[in-house]
Amino acid sequence: MTANCAARLLEHYVDNFRRLPWRSPPGEPPPDPYRVWLSEVMLQQTTVAAVTPRFERFVARWPTVEALANAPAEQVLSEWAGLGYYARARNLIACAREVAGRGGFPSTAAELRSLPGIGNYTAAAVASIAFGQDEAAVDTNVNRVVARLHAISQSTRQLTEQLVLAMVPPGRAADFTQAMMDLGATICRPRAPQCGACPLRQDCAAFASGTPDLFPARKPKRVRPKRHGTAWWIERNRCVWLVRRPIKGLLGGMAALPGSGWSEQPVRADVGALGTVRHVFTHFALSLTVVRGTRPIGEGWWQRLDTLAEAGLPTLYRRAAQVAISSSSDQRDAA
Ligand code: ADE
Repeated sequence: MTANCAARLLEHYVDNFRRLPWRSPPGEPPPDPYRVWLSEVMLQQTTVAAVTPRFERFVARWPTVEALANAPAEQVLSEWAGLGYYARARNLIACAREVAGRGGFPSTAAELRSLPGIGNYTAAAVASIAFGQDEAAVDTNVNRVVARLHAISQSTRQLTEQLVLAMVPPGRAADFTQAMMDLGATICRPRAPQCGACPLRQDCAAFASGTPDLFPARKPKRVRPKRHGTAWWIERNRCVWLVRRPIKGLLGGMAALPGSGWSEQPVRADVGALGTVRHVFTHFALSLTVVRGTRPIGEGWWQRLDTLAEAGLPTLYRRAAQVAISSSSDQRDAA
């Protein structure tokens, strides 16, 4: 790797940076730490394209960390619906309350790491982007860039962080962090990297090897166990019965259709079944059979069908509701 490798990356960033609503263009004052933190939490496991409109809507509703800290948790969880990984939203609320209580975000990665839901990556991203601290924010994109630069098949987080830190040009941490993210997302892609457009190709050991896409070594695909469950569609007077899931566990605190637990036993083929939804979680794949029910189950509320989109249902239950609604309208059409 040559000495001016990082300088070349920054030059390329200045000409090619992505304009995103949580960013400041290079050379301008840093963005509000609230917006940086929120975007980083949303971008964990979710794409820039999916996050951008949701980020805009979220900050229009809660423009400051204090506003978010004062929001009822149920409203924040509903606003998060569809983004997945709901523990992020629960931690977001806890973190906003703590930050508002302290009077603002701390500026060092070490202090940021002590807040709910903030790990090494998010702490380093916020510290570098919002506060200009020399920190190494290593996500999967940045890890791939570094693994290729050094032709490392398998790295540890510590080693990758050291290698990134050694590259950070003093005083340019904010732009450097975002430049590495952009390079990983747009040029140094997992498959078919665009080495012809890469400002670092002369520094890149993987490019020199002729097979850059073989770095880092791919992890073997995991086999997800299957689980099965039933959700009840209980409809009355153009309303459906919804419940809130227990705060602990998957989809904790989210609005839902009432239903069974999820187990390894397949659901018996049921004559009343309206359809089945398959949904992939991190640790298992769920097959949820939607069955018509007659009487309300558990504590819950009647949600008008014409306002179902505003109920804050996560994707699994939004899809289950679609199955029920289209199955009911099929039956009406057939009658
Ligand atoms: N992915 C994670 N953080 C990001 C950021 N700040 N900008 C663009 N993509 C990202």
